[in-house]
Amino acid sequence: MITGKTKIMGLIGDPVEHTISPFMHNAGFKYFDLDYAYVPFHVARENLKFAIEGARALDIKGLNVTIPHKIEVMKYLDVIHETAWLIGAVNTIRFADEVEGYNTDGLGAIRGIKELTPLKGRKVIILGAGGASRAISFQSVLSGAGQVVIANRTLEKALKLALNLKDNLNVDVKAVSLGEELEKELEDADILINTTPIGMYPNVDDKPLVTSDMMHEGLVVNDVIYNPLETGLLREARLAGAKTITGIKMLIYQGIESFKIWTGREPPLKVFEEALEDEIKKL
Ligand code: ATR
Repeated sequence: MITGKTKIMGLIGDPVEHTISPFMHNAGFKYFDLDYAYVPFHVARENLKFAIEGARALDIKGLNVTIPHKIEVMKYLDVIHETAWLIGAVNTIRFADEVEGYNTDGLGAIRGIKELTPLKGRKVIILGAGGASRAISFQSVLSGAGQVVIANRTLEKALKLALNLKDNLNVDVKAVSLGEELEKELEDADILINTTPIGMYPNVDDKPLVTSDMMHEGLVVNDVIYNPLETGLLREARLAGAKTITGIKMLIYQGIESFKIWTGREPPLKVFEEALEDEIKKL
Protein backbone atom coordinates (compact mmCIF):
# COMPACT_ATOMS: atom_id res chain seq x y z
CA MET A 1 0.00 0.00 0.00
CA ILE A 2 1.40 3.41 -1.00
CA THR A 3 0.73 6.02 1.69
CA GLY A 4 1.95 9.51 2.55
CA LYS A 5 4.88 7.90 4.35
CA THR A 6 6.08 5.69 1.50
CA LYS A 7 9.62 6.43 0.37
CA ILE A 8 10.30 6.24 -3.35
CA MET A 9 13.26 4.53 -5.00
CA GLY A 10 13.56 3.93 -8.69
CA LEU A 11 15.36 3.47 -11.94
CA ILE A 12 16.12 6.00 -14.66
CA GLY A 13 16.97 4.88 -18.18
CA ASP A 14 15.84 4.80 -21.77
CA PRO A 15 14.23 2.36 -22.38
CA VAL A 16 12.97 0.97 -19.05
CA GLU A 17 9.87 -0.97 -20.13
CA HIS A 18 11.50 -4.37 -19.85
CA THR A 19 13.46 -3.92 -16.63
CA ILE A 20 13.11 -6.68 -14.05
CA SER A 21 14.72 -4.69 -11.23
CA PRO A 22 11.37 -3.65 -9.62
CA PHE A 23 10.59 -7.31 -8.90
CA MET A 24 13.81 -7.68 -6.89
CA HIS A 25 13.74 -4.42 -4.95
CA ASN A 26 10.06 -4.42 -4.12
CA ALA A 27 10.41 -8.02 -2.86
CA GLY A 28 13.33 -6.88 -0.70
CA PHE A 29 11.31 -4.01 0.78
CA LYS A 30 8.50 -6.45 1.55
CA TYR A 31 10.91 -8.92 3.14
CA PHE A 32 12.22 -6.28 5.57
CA ASP A 33 8.79 -4.68 5.97
CA LEU A 34 10.12 -1.35 4.68
CA ASP A 35 7.63 1.25 3.49
CA TYR A 36 9.48 1.85 0.21
CA ALA A 37 8.41 1.45 -3.42
CA TYR A 38 10.67 1.03 -6.48
CA VAL A 39 9.44 2.64 -9.69
CA PRO A 40 11.01 2.73 -13.19
CA PHE A 41 11.14 6.22 -14.78
CA HIS A 42 11.62 6.69 -18.50
CA VAL A 43 14.11 9.54 -18.85
CA ALA A 44 15.30 10.74 -22.26
CA ARG A 45 18.90 11.98 -22.60
CA GLU A 46 17.92 15.64 -22.81
CA ASN A 47 15.97 15.39 -19.55
CA LEU A 48 18.65 13.78 -17.38
CA LYS A 49 19.63 16.97 -15.54
CA PHE A 50 16.00 17.78 -14.76
CA ALA A 51 15.38 14.19 -13.67
CA ILE A 52 18.15 14.39 -11.03
CA GLU A 53 17.05 17.83 -9.84
CA GLY A 54 13.46 16.61 -9.83
CA ALA A 55 14.33 13.47 -7.88
CA ARG A 56 16.04 15.63 -5.27
CA ALA A 57 13.06 17.97 -5.11
CA LEU A 58 10.60 15.07 -4.82
CA ASP A 59 12.65 13.59 -1.96
CA ILE A 60 13.30 10.36 -3.85
CA LYS A 61 15.72 8.33 -1.70
CA GLY A 62 17.61 6.30 -4.26
CA LEU A 63 17.92 5.60 -7.97
CA ASN A 64 19.45 3.00 -10.20
CA VAL A 65 20.85 4.40 -13.41
CA THR A 66 20.93 2.45 -16.65
CA ILE A 67 21.61 2.94 -20.36
CA PRO A 68 22.24 5.61 -21.65
CA HIS A 69 22.83 7.70 -18.52
CA LYS A 70 25.54 5.91 -16.50
CA ILE A 71 28.39 8.22 -17.53
CA GLU A 72 26.53 11.48 -18.14
CA VAL A 73 24.80 11.37 -14.74
CA MET A 74 28.11 11.86 -12.91
CA LYS A 75 27.97 15.57 -13.81
CA TYR A 76 24.91 16.08 -11.66
CA LEU A 77 26.06 14.40 -8.45
CA ASP A 78 27.79 15.93 -5.41
CA VAL A 79 30.01 12.99 -4.46
CA ILE A 80 31.30 10.02 -6.46
CA HIS A 81 32.37 6.89 -4.59
CA GLU A 82 35.91 5.72 -5.39
CA THR A 83 34.99 2.59 -7.38
CA ALA A 84 32.48 4.50 -9.51
CA TRP A 85 35.11 7.16 -10.06
CA LEU A 86 37.64 4.61 -11.27
CA ILE A 87 35.09 2.88 -13.50
CA GLY A 88 33.89 6.23 -14.79
CA ALA A 89 30.20 5.35 -14.49
CA VAL A 90 27.45 5.36 -11.87
CA ASN A 91 24.60 2.84 -11.62
CA THR A 92 23.36 3.70 -8.11
CA ILE A 93 22.50 7.05 -6.54
CA ARG A 94 21.78 7.69 -2.88
CA PHE A 95 20.05 10.93 -2.01
CA ALA A 96 21.24 11.97 1.44
CA ASP A 97 22.53 15.41 2.53
CA GLU A 98 24.56 15.12 -0.62
CA VAL A 99 23.73 13.22 -3.81
CA GLU A 100 26.12 10.26 -3.89
CA GLY A 101 27.07 8.09 -6.87
CA TYR A 102 28.17 4.45 -6.66
CA ASN A 103 28.80 1.62 -9.10
CA THR A 104 27.71 -1.89 -8.14
CA ASP A 105 27.92 -3.50 -11.61
CA GLY A 106 31.44 -4.89 -11.23
CA LEU A 107 30.77 -5.95 -7.67
CA GLY A 108 27.69 -7.85 -8.86
CA ALA A 109 29.70 -9.91 -11.32
CA ILE A 110 32.55 -10.51 -8.88
CA ARG A 111 30.25 -11.69 -6.09
CA GLY A 112 28.79 -14.30 -8.45
CA ILE A 113 32.27 -15.50 -9.36
CA LYS A 114 33.44 -15.53 -5.73
CA GLU A 115 30.76 -18.12 -4.95
CA LEU A 116 32.75 -20.56 -7.08
CA THR A 117 36.34 -19.40 -6.84
CA PRO A 118 38.44 -16.82 -5.00
CA LEU A 119 39.75 -13.94 -7.11
CA LYS A 120 42.97 -13.39 -5.23
CA GLY A 121 46.00 -13.94 -7.45
CA ARG A 122 43.90 -15.42 -10.26
CA LYS A 123 44.21 -14.79 -13.99
CA VAL A 124 41.03 -13.21 -15.38
CA ILE A 125 40.23 -12.86 -19.09
CA ILE A 126 37.53 -10.39 -20.05
CA LEU A 127 35.95 -10.44 -23.52
CA GLY A 128 34.99 -6.96 -24.72
CA ALA A 129 36.21 -3.49 -23.81
CA GLY A 130 33.00 -1.46 -23.37
CA GLY A 131 31.24 -0.21 -20.25
CA ALA A 132 30.58 -3.62 -18.68
CA SER A 133 34.19 -4.67 -19.25
CA ARG A 134 35.39 -1.47 -17.58
CA ALA A 135 33.28 -2.07 -14.49
CA ILE A 136 34.24 -5.73 -14.19
CA SER A 137 37.94 -5.27 -14.94
CA PHE A 138 38.39 -2.54 -12.31
CA GLN A 139 36.42 -4.50 -9.75
CA SER A 140 38.43 -7.67 -10.52
CA VAL A 141 41.64 -5.83 -9.68
CA LEU A 142 40.12 -4.21 -6.59
CA SER A 143 39.07 -7.71 -5.52
CA GLY A 144 42.63 -9.00 -5.81
CA ALA A 145 42.93 -10.55 -9.29
CA GLY A 146 46.59 -11.31 -10.07
CA GLN A 147 46.44 -10.74 -13.81
CA VAL A 148 43.81 -9.26 -16.11
CA VAL A 149 43.66 -9.81 -19.87
CA ILE A 150 41.31 -7.67 -21.96
CA ALA A 151 40.46 -9.38 -25.27
CA ASN A 152 38.60 -7.31 -27.82
CA ARG A 153 37.72 -7.21 -31.52
CA THR A 154 39.13 -3.68 -31.70
CA LEU A 155 42.56 -4.04 -30.11
CA GLU A 156 42.92 -0.28 -29.69
CA LYS A 157 39.99 -0.18 -27.27
CA ALA A 158 41.41 -3.07 -25.25
CA LEU A 159 44.77 -1.29 -25.08
CA LYS A 160 43.15 1.90 -23.88
CA LEU A 161 41.31 0.11 -21.07
CA ALA A 162 44.41 -1.89 -20.13
CA LEU A 163 46.48 1.30 -19.90
CA ASN A 164 43.83 2.91 -17.79
CA LEU A 165 43.83 -0.06 -15.39
CA LYS A 166 47.60 0.00 -15.14
CA ASP A 167 47.74 3.77 -14.58
CA ASN A 168 45.20 3.67 -11.78
CA LEU A 169 45.83 0.36 -10.04
CA ASN A 170 49.32 -0.75 -11.10
CA VAL A 171 48.13 -4.23 -12.00
CA ASP A 172 49.58 -6.92 -14.30
CA VAL A 173 47.34 -6.29 -17.31
CA LYS A 174 47.46 -7.17 -20.98
CA ALA A 175 45.40 -6.36 -24.07
CA VAL A 176 44.99 -8.96 -26.83
CA SER A 177 42.95 -9.32 -29.99
CA LEU A 178 40.55 -12.19 -30.56
CA GLY A 179 41.79 -15.45 -32.10
CA GLU A 180 45.22 -16.99 -31.58
CA GLU A 181 46.47 -14.57 -28.95
CA LEU A 182 43.33 -15.08 -26.89
CA GLU A 183 43.57 -18.84 -27.30
CA LYS A 184 47.09 -18.82 -25.91
CA GLU A 185 46.04 -16.71 -22.91
CA LEU A 186 43.20 -19.14 -22.16
CA GLU A 187 45.59 -22.04 -21.55
CA ASP A 188 46.44 -20.96 -18.01
CA ALA A 189 43.45 -18.70 -17.28
CA ASP A 190 41.30 -19.20 -14.17
CA ILE A 191 38.28 -17.04 -14.96
CA LEU A 192 36.67 -16.01 -18.26
CA ILE A 193 33.99 -13.30 -18.42
CA ASN A 194 32.03 -12.31 -21.52
CA THR A 195 30.85 -8.70 -21.68
CA THR A 196 30.10 -8.59 -25.43
CA PRO A 197 26.52 -8.93 -26.71
CA ILE A 198 27.39 -12.08 -28.67
CA GLY A 199 24.73 -14.75 -28.07
CA MET A 200 22.17 -12.36 -26.58
CA TYR A 201 18.51 -12.84 -27.55
CA PRO A 202 17.50 -12.89 -30.40
CA ASN A 203 21.00 -13.78 -31.70
CA VAL A 204 21.20 -16.94 -29.62
CA ASP A 205 22.93 -18.92 -32.39
CA ASP A 206 25.89 -16.54 -32.73
CA LYS A 207 29.17 -18.44 -32.52
CA PRO A 208 30.78 -17.61 -29.17
CA LEU A 209 34.25 -16.02 -29.17
CA VAL A 210 35.56 -18.96 -27.13
CA THR A 211 34.61 -22.58 -27.82
CA SER A 212 35.02 -25.73 -25.70
CA ASP A 213 38.28 -26.76 -27.38
CA MET A 214 39.88 -23.57 -26.01
CA MET A 215 38.66 -24.17 -22.43
CA HIS A 216 39.81 -26.44 -19.64
CA GLU A 217 38.06 -28.03 -16.65
CA GLY A 218 39.60 -25.66 -14.12
CA LEU A 219 38.11 -22.59 -15.81
CA VAL A 220 35.19 -20.63 -14.33
CA VAL A 221 33.11 -19.01 -17.09
CA ASN A 222 30.71 -16.12 -16.52
CA ASP A 223 28.49 -14.49 -19.14
CA VAL A 224 26.92 -11.13 -18.28
CA ILE A 225 24.07 -11.93 -20.69
CA TYR A 226 21.01 -13.38 -18.89
CA ASN A 227 18.71 -13.81 -21.87
CA PRO A 228 19.06 -16.66 -22.66
CA LEU A 229 20.18 -18.04 -19.30
CA GLU A 230 22.51 -20.52 -20.99
CA THR A 231 24.31 -18.64 -23.74
CA GLY A 232 26.38 -20.32 -26.45
CA LEU A 233 29.51 -19.51 -24.43
CA LEU A 234 28.16 -21.18 -21.28
CA ARG A 235 27.09 -24.23 -23.31
CA GLU A 236 30.64 -24.55 -24.62
CA ALA A 237 31.96 -24.17 -21.08
CA ARG A 238 29.68 -26.95 -19.85
CA LEU A 239 30.91 -29.21 -22.69
CA ALA A 240 34.49 -28.53 -21.61
CA GLY A 241 33.67 -29.46 -18.01
CA ALA A 242 34.25 -25.89 -16.84
CA LYS A 243 32.12 -24.25 -14.13
CA THR A 244 29.54 -21.72 -15.32
CA ILE A 245 27.80 -18.64 -13.91
CA THR A 246 24.78 -17.14 -15.65
CA GLY A 247 24.25 -13.40 -16.10
CA ILE A 248 21.37 -13.43 -13.66
CA LYS A 249 23.84 -13.65 -10.76
CA MET A 250 25.41 -10.33 -11.73
CA LEU A 251 21.99 -8.73 -12.07
CA ILE A 252 20.90 -10.02 -8.66
CA TYR A 253 24.10 -9.12 -6.83
CA GLN A 254 24.37 -5.62 -8.31
CA GLY A 255 20.79 -5.18 -7.08
CA ILE A 256 21.63 -6.52 -3.62
CA GLU A 257 24.58 -4.11 -3.40
CA SER A 258 22.38 -1.15 -4.43
CA PHE A 259 19.74 -2.20 -1.90
CA LYS A 260 22.45 -2.24 0.79
CA ILE A 261 23.56 1.28 -0.13
CA TRP A 262 20.01 2.61 0.15
CA THR A 263 18.75 0.75 3.21
CA GLY A 264 21.83 -0.50 5.05
CA ARG A 265 20.34 -3.99 4.93
CA GLU A 266 21.31 -7.02 2.89
CA PRO A 267 18.43 -9.04 1.46
CA PRO A 268 19.02 -12.81 1.25
CA LEU A 269 19.92 -14.04 -2.25
CA LYS A 270 16.85 -16.30 -2.11
CA VAL A 271 14.44 -13.33 -1.83
CA PHE A 272 15.74 -11.71 -5.02
CA GLU A 273 15.99 -15.05 -6.83
CA GLU A 274 12.41 -15.98 -6.01
CA ALA A 275 11.21 -12.52 -7.04
CA LEU A 276 12.69 -13.10 -10.48
CA GLU A 277 11.56 -16.70 -10.90
CA ASP A 278 8.45 -15.97 -12.98
CA GLU A 279 10.21 -13.30 -15.01
CA ILE A 280 13.07 -15.67 -15.83
CA LYS A 281 10.61 -18.31 -17.04
CA LYS A 282 9.34 -15.79 -19.59
CA LEU A 283 12.83 -15.29 -21.07
P1 ATR B 1 28.60 -2.46 -22.81
O1 ATR B 1 28.57 -1.04 -22.37
O2 ATR B 1 27.37 -3.25 -22.52
O3 ATR B 1 29.84 -3.16 -22.35
P2 ATR B 1 29.56 -1.66 -25.41
O4 ATR B 1 30.22 -0.49 -24.76
O5 ATR B 1 28.78 -1.44 -26.64
O6 ATR B 1 28.59 -2.40 -24.40
O7 ATR B 1 30.69 -2.76 -25.67
C1 ATR B 1 30.44 -3.90 -26.38
C2 ATR B 1 31.74 -4.70 -26.54
O8 ATR B 1 31.42 -5.88 -27.24
C3 ATR B 1 32.79 -3.96 -27.36
O9 ATR B 1 34.05 -4.22 -26.82
C4 ATR B 1 32.66 -4.59 -28.76
O10 ATR B 1 33.84 -4.67 -29.49
P3 ATR B 1 34.46 -3.42 -30.32
O11 ATR B 1 35.18 -2.59 -29.31
O12 ATR B 1 35.38 -4.03 -31.32
O13 ATR B 1 33.29 -2.72 -30.95
C5 ATR B 1 32.21 -6.00 -28.41
N1 ATR B 1 31.43 -6.60 -29.50
C6 ATR B 1 30.18 -6.28 -29.88
N2 ATR B 1 29.77 -7.06 -30.90
C7 ATR B 1 30.81 -7.88 -31.19
C8 ATR B 1 31.02 -8.91 -32.14
N3 ATR B 1 30.08 -9.27 -33.01
N4 ATR B 1 32.23 -9.56 -32.12
C9 ATR B 1 33.19 -9.20 -31.25
N5 ATR B 1 33.04 -8.25 -30.32
C10 ATR B 1 31.88 -7.59 -30.28
